[in-house]
Amino acid sequence: MKLLVVGGGGREHAIIKKLKENPTVETIYALPGNGGMVDDCTPVPITATDIDAIVTFALDAKVDYAVVAPDDPLVLGCVDALEAKGIPCFGPRANAAIIEGSKVFSKNLMKKYGIPTAKYEVFSDLDAALGYLETAPLPTVIKADGLALGKGVIIAQTLSEAKEAVHAMMEDKRFGKSGERIVIEEYLEGPEISVLSFTDGKTVVPMVSSMDHKRGGDGDTGLNTGGMGTIAPNPFYTPEVAERCMREIFLPTIRAMAAEGRPFKGCLYFGLMLTADGPKVIEYNCRFGDPETQVVLPLLKTDLLTVMQAVTEERLADCPVEFSDGAAACVILASEGYPGSYQKGYPVRIPDDLNAEVFAAGVKVQDGQLVTSGGRVLGVTATAPTLPEALQKAYAAAEQIRFENAFYRRDIGKRALAAKEE
Ligand code: AMP
Ligand code: GLY
Repeated sequence: MKLLVVGGGGREHAIIKKLKENPTVETIYALPGNGGMVDDCTPVPITATDIDAIVTFALDAKVDYAVVAPDDPLVLGCVDALEAKGIPCFGPRANAAIIEGSKVFSKNLMKKYGIPTAKYEVFSDLDAALGYLETAPLPTVIKADGLALGKGVIIAQTLSEAKEAVHAMMEDKRFGKSGERIVIEEYLEGPEISVLSFTDGKTVVPMVSSMDHKRGGDGDTGLNTGGMGTIAPNPFYTPEVAERCMREIFLPTIRAMAAEGRPFKGCLYFGLMLTADGPKVIEYNCRFGDPETQVVLPLLKTDLLTVMQAVTEERLADCPVEFSDGAAACVILASEGYPGSYQKGYPVRIPDDLNAEVFAAGVKVQDGQLVTSGGRVLGVTATAPTLPEALQKAYAAAEQIRFENAFYRRDIGKRALAAKEE
């Protein structure tokens, strides 16, 4: 089979490595992929949002199956466009990807179907939003409606910070059209849990749970990033919590989307917070999370392509999906300065005999050499029977990889380990 994967980061590399394990796979094209993936796939310089070029390429290359991984092409209807030309896909159509593409949509969906989430109000008028803030409890959470590269959420500790965020989104249009409507919501507290799931619109199969580390600095300090590391499974996701999430969140969400005439097929990501009142939805993503995928897929025992095709063909109920009992840890090696500005173009040296998997994110080949080209450069993942062993292996491997200006968090998994001891 010839496969096409839309996207070009560490998440896509993790998906590609797993797809490659299927013996029927001859070729995997990555659009655009990156220079660190060439041993596993063929990168093609087409950007992930150029839907017309993706469809033309898929037809010319006679692709049998496509996986659309990032949010933007999904929200733009990449799956709809490929399917219209007869190419089966993994990923939701645009009418279901809206669950991530519009926070107003997802909040209204949760309210209508009684799915637990933070209380909220929606505003499209600046003065109304500012007026509401005067009496809103602090801290308060302000979210741009549309996609904003993960930066459209502001947690304001004071009234002036809150007002500043509202001005930035609605007046200065910091996130463009994404901030024309905003959600102001209740601040929730508790450990966060990421649960990625496979769903064909009828059945939902949660994958192993994970924990992201969003802040740039040790001890959860510094700016929010795309994610500096992950561990799986998440110790806060006990069997009782899992059962409650299935009953109160996962199944109701799948049924709600179907009832709305927007059946969700693909990977639905539940960003959860375990509050004193039980698990609540912080956000939905219409795709695999990054870097969560870099710990979740290495633990998947079932063939990934088989599961994806069962999703596409709506027969997930008959497809067993198994994860290993062990643990996985991923440490992201980033460019110093990220998520702010940083230098790039530094040579990257990865030893051949690493006792870990390396997923390429922000690298490219320049004059025959691998060099840094992004903020998050590599993801280093190790699996082991226990979390302490997985962390030890991932950090030992991370230390052996060299590039100038590299930095990584030293405390990935620390909170998870502390939770296990409680
Ligand atoms: P999001 O982009 O929606 O995942 O939000 C980014 C991060 O902001 C989340 O991972 C949470 O840590 C935090 N966050 C979002 N919404 C809330 C909320 N209602 N209460 C507390 N923290 C939140
Ligand atoms: N790691 C969070 C996300 O993929 O949005």
